[in-house]
Amino acid sequence: MSSSIGLSPELVRYLADVNPPEHPVLARCRAETQSLPQAQMQISPEQGAFMQSIARMIGARRAFEVGVFTGYSALAVALAMKETQGPGARLLACDVSEEWTAKAQIYWREAGVDGMIDLTIQPAIETLDQRLAAREAGAYDFGFIDADKTGYDAYYERGLKLLRKGGVMLFDNMLWSGRVADPGDKSADTVALRALAAKAKADDRVHAAVTAIGDGVLMVVKR
Ligand SMILES: C[S@@+](CC[C@H](N)C(=O)[O-])C[C@H]1O[C@@H](n2cnc3c(N)ncnc32)[C@H](O)[C@@H]1O
Repeated sequence: MSSSIGLSPELVRYLADVNPPEHPVLARCRAETQSLPQAQMQISPEQGAFMQSIARMIGARRAFEVGVFTGYSALAVALAMKETQGPGARLLACDVSEEWTAKAQIYWREAGVDGMIDLTIQPAIETLDQRLAAREAGAYDFGFIDADKTGYDAYYERGLKLLRKGGVMLFDNMLWSGRVADPGDKSADTVALRALAAKAKADDRVHAAVTAIGDGVLMVVKR
């Protein structure tokens, strides 16, 4: 699980205590993912709870996600949509890994949301372009981007087209464990994250806010 930036272990435990208990399948997905060397890629439980709050707040019925891994974030959003909108809600889930998403599909099935999730295995940019070509612009309420950082700008542009007015899109890892604030870090990922934050701030198509939830979340609301 990715640790929330700047939080002591005591505060992480406190957050776990004061937040609602995780759905049992979410808890198992988190616990079992800890054995993978890539476990830090998974979002934190409080970030999952935050995303569920947003999906509920905006009445999300149709969502997309770029970056599935073992399925935690998709499961969190699908559970919130199922409870508020019923099993007719839909989540388009994009990833390139058969191996990791095979695990995700087991959790989705166990939680009874597998029928709501349309998983595509190919570079996400291709999937998003296909959905735009299929005239799905403006059809989505919510998006979550959590994959290759140098692709974020392309996902931002496609995602904005897919979102309806008032729709919300979240970008993970916007603080990049603090590296974005290190002027000496000129790596491609760090530069891409800084550039997206600056672009969203100046973009009159959205209202943008970068928050310190998890490893930093950029939230854009489409005007
Ligand atoms: C940080 S993990 C996602 C974590 C996930 N959101 C969770 O809550 O556990 C990033 C994922 O992005 C996927 N990925 C990387 N490049 C991609 C691309 N070009 N298109 C789609 N998925 C990609 C990886 O396979 C990996 O599963």
